[in-house]
Amino acid sequence: MSSNIETHQIETRVFKPSKDFSKTSLVGSLAEYKKLHAASLKAPAKFWAGQAADLFWRKKWKTVLDWKPPFAKWFVGGQLNASENCLDRHLDGPRRNKAAIIWEGEPGEKRVLTYQQLHREVCVFANILKRNGAKKGDRVIIYLPHIPEAAIAMLACARIGAVHSVIFGGFSSTSIRDRIEDCGATLVVTADAGYRRGQTVTLKQNVDQALEGVTTVKRVIVFRRAGLDIHIQEGRDVWWHREAEYVSADCPAVALDSEHPLFILYTSGSTGKPKGILHTTAGYLLGAVITTKYVFDLKENDTYWCTADIGWITGHSYIVYGPLASGATVLMYEGAPNWPQPDRFWKIVAEYGVTILYTAPTAIRAFMKWGDEWPKKHDLSSLRLLGTVGEPINPEAWIWYHKNIGAERCPIVDTWWQTETGAMMITPLPGAIPAKPGTATLPFFGIDAAIVDDKGQEVGPNEGGKLVIRKPWPSMLRTIYGDKARYKQAYWSEVKGCYFTGDGARRDKDGYFWIVGRIDDVLNVAGHRLGTAEVESALVGHDDVAEAAVVGRPDEMKGQAVVAFVTLRNGIPATKELAEKIRKHVGNVIGPIAKPDEIRFTEALPKTRSGKIMRRLLKQIASGQAVTGDTTTLEDLSVLAKLKQGDE
Ligand code: PRX
Repeated sequence: MSSNIETHQIETRVFKPSKDFSKTSLVGSLAEYKKLHAASLKAPAKFWAGQAADLFWRKKWKTVLDWKPPFAKWFVGGQLNASENCLDRHLDGPRRNKAAIIWEGEPGEKRVLTYQQLHREVCVFANILKRNGAKKGDRVIIYLPHIPEAAIAMLACARIGAVHSVIFGGFSSTSIRDRIEDCGATLVVTADAGYRRGQTVTLKQNVDQALEGVTTVKRVIVFRRAGLDIHIQEGRDVWWHREAEYVSADCPAVALDSEHPLFILYTSGSTGKPKGILHTTAGYLLGAVITTKYVFDLKENDTYWCTADIGWITGHSYIVYGPLASGATVLMYEGAPNWPQPDRFWKIVAEYGVTILYTAPTAIRAFMKWGDEWPKKHDLSSLRLLGTVGEPINPEAWIWYHKNIGAERCPIVDTWWQTETGAMMITPLPGAIPAKPGTATLPFFGIDAAIVDDKGQEVGPNEGGKLVIRKPWPSMLRTIYGDKARYKQAYWSEVKGCYFTGDGARRDKDGYFWIVGRIDDVLNVAGHRLGTAEVESALVGHDDVAEAAVVGRPDEMKGQAVVAFVTLRNGIPATKELAEKIRKHVGNVIGPIAKPDEIRFTEALPKTRSGKIMRRLLKQIASGQAVTGDTTTLEDLSVLAKLKQGDE
């Protein structure tokens, strides 16, 4: 029996870039992309050295790459500063008074920070950090709402060479403590509270709980966001605004080695403790900047909106470092997409004339569920480019996004990448690469992606296997903080000489990459290995289904039986007849082997806080096991409780 993953459903729709779009793009045709990509793989050092000229260097590097597998050092001997690249370099020209960040709070407040103002705020906060003992190399935890101060704090750390570790504001005190202890942080930056769906989220209180018994943290700097009456621990806690009165706005950026650590970002492995992914300065910044330039096809007057939270890698690379180093105008919105109504995003797009929108499939499926009438209420004609990231996008959601948001006019860039890769890896270039709904298409310049079998051999067209990257790239993670052995084991031991992504994928006859799901989630039904994405996409293709997740349950006859957890569109009743119809639908679309043995209707699916379905929990529920392992990353614990009730 082959262990390769099978494909049963082939998407045939192709959307070519429009002539108008191609004409003004950096790369205007598929042939040009292919030529550039081939050249970048033939002579990677030359390619990356050429691109690195886009950054502002204090001292030029001597060696492009020092590669002692699996440890890479890029631009060795060079010096630069990420904060200087994002700010100071824009101050001498017309960008000085251009909006860097346009922000809207959930309750409706508005703020605009020009590059000059942002630079000033960052310098002030960098001096506050220094005044409170932060030094080069120290780890600083940032646990803030989605407000400009989150970006300010990150850039202030980068300015003085402190290493930031941002924790998403939805995490609990236990998660904060685990991360603080893992990286030995000495300082925490937080706020009294943030807003989410009209409620205040009491961040400082969570920090207080997290710090019980923690000895490394000497200072907590608190930003006043909501005006709550909070506990201030004398000698440890200080107010941001008070500290600002004691410092100047003059703080030159320090020159840092290319490999100086820029940040640690924790990503929850499916099991075990979170991994502290370490990114360093030059390579990471280069990855973020050149993908912003080519994939978002950024123009000087774009209003660019990435809806991710700054606490995820998407926020790091595509709210802060990529766009700001490129001198873009970045929109930030603090709150929930359906607050106070399900059209909040579309209202924002219309009001600010957003031109580029980058969001996640989970959000798109939620918009579909809420109904087409919400985007229809607003003028979305300013949009010119759409993007997605985070999960495979099922073709139906892609088409919905294309029609209802992009008015069949805007190209969609479906970008595949990971916290570990730092920047986009497989993605369309909007003026060059024809899109097909559901695929991230082709690898970015310098990226040598392949699909291999268990022996590490590249597989043929439409054969599923493991997605690997065969050459190092500048924005790759350098290690797991404090755990080189785990770094080697997790990423470099599965396939000899290659970085293993953990994803299963196939390439079609045009060389396009289709992610079929995480390798650990692949179903094994009567000897057939099926990726989760394909079955879920078929389920969501049924008119009544809003969202679905499939998992395998042990089955004596078939090895595994397919259990589908399904949420229905608003107002559709869950009946036995409908379950049967949905099963049949999957059978028709993919074939009898993929027909779910069981459909379980549920109001919601368990998701991580960044919106990914937690199939590991569903697997345990489907097979009647107790739910074990880490559930701290779960967005809404009540979903789990309800699913378990349904089980009894
Ligand atoms: O499984 C892939 C999926 O998300 C994983 C990376 O998750 P994370 O580190 O949280 O980073 C998310 C933001 C970059 C990948 O291994 N994934 C991400 N983007 C896509 C995707 N799967 C399919 N298509 C995508 N565009």
